[in-house]
Amino acid sequence: QGRVVLGIESSCDETGAGLVRDGRLLGHAVASSMAEHARYGGVVPEIAARAHVHSFNPVVQQALDRAGLAMRDIGAVAVTTGPGLSGALQVGLAGAKGIAYALDVPLYGVHHLAGHVAADTLEHGPLPEPCMVLIVSGGHTSLLLVRDLVRDPILHLGDTLDDAAGECFDKVARVFGLPYPGGPAIDRAARDGNRKAVAFPRPLTGTRDERHRFAFSFSGLKTAAARWSEQHRAEGRDIPVADGAASLQEAVADVLTRKAVDACREHDVSTLVVVGGVAANSRVRELAEQRCRSAGITLRVPPLGLCTDNGAMIAAVGDLLVRSGAEPAPLDLSIDPSAPL
Ligand code: KG4
Ligand code: ZN
Repeated sequence: QGRVVLGIESSCDETGAGLVRDGRLLGHAVASSMAEHARYGGVVPEIAARAHVHSFNPVVQQALDRAGLAMRDIGAVAVTTGPGLSGALQVGLAGAKGIAYALDVPLYGVHHLAGHVAADTLEHGPLPEPCMVLIVSGGHTSLLLVRDLVRDPILHLGDTLDDAAGECFDKVARVFGLPYPGGPAIDRAARDGNRKAVAFPRPLTGTRDERHRFAFSFSGLKTAAARWSEQHRAEGRDIPVADGAASLQEAVADVLTRKAVDACREHDVSTLVVVGGVAANSRVRELAEQRCRSAGITLRVPPLGLCTDNGAMIAAVGDLLVRSGAEPAPLDLSIDPSAPL
């Protein structure tokens, strides 16, 4: 049996701790400061950092309890070093270093997005390589070609030119008068709506510009949704929120899945992994399933609890690093808030 790897995640508003050994998830716990940010309509960095301070020890203990393990069973520590909010990252890193130092076990720095990619291995086993990864969250919307998660740099095929897909959901939800975080609220509202009610644009699809084939843009969609609700307001009518939500969700899901499947075809890749908070979206999942099935592509989506930020996904990368014999980080490891991909 290999080492038990403790993974720590604190890049945004979730404090996560997870325990993984030999590719298997032993237990994990997550605390979120989401509710404390709700009235500001977005994550407030100082509030997030303070919440991590409060949650760090209880979350690590809860993960250990769930795994039926004690602190002394931890054989390595992996921690998110970036990208993310610097104060928030700093709290997780300090805690991770403390544990690694106290137990005299190796420490590993992990890129947050590599964590999202690895989350799926905990449910579905090793990633077939190469594979295409669509990362869709509140901070990122990217198409990545992964040839070897631990040894090779991830090839970045396209990114968002402006807002991330989750950010678009969050901002439009606000305009629609739905609660924060907007993604789940739009998903719920959309259940009773008609996705063909509003013809929202499909930004950057069918573009002839090679540079933008796998790039995304969601700020125009946000503006279109704002204009659409403004029109109703100006005419003194109620906003048909369910129809707006369903139509917006359709536009986002259509663009994301169309580009992801095109990228698989172009790069001759037969596995698509969809990760990040927006992978929880029911229409994104449904369309991805349909389109992958017709294109002969295997679709992998981690379970909902592993799609959003968590410590298990960071432990999953740490476990891969340990097993590949990677060099541990020195104890002066620092955060990299704007880490490139
Ligand atoms: O991965 P994540 O937890 O955090 C990062 O951004 O790294 O993703 C959070 C994002 C938020 O924008 C949230 O609105 C969105 O994921 N989200 C969803 C759903 N659940 C979460 N978006 C659409 N539909 C959902 N069901
Ligand atoms: Zn994330």
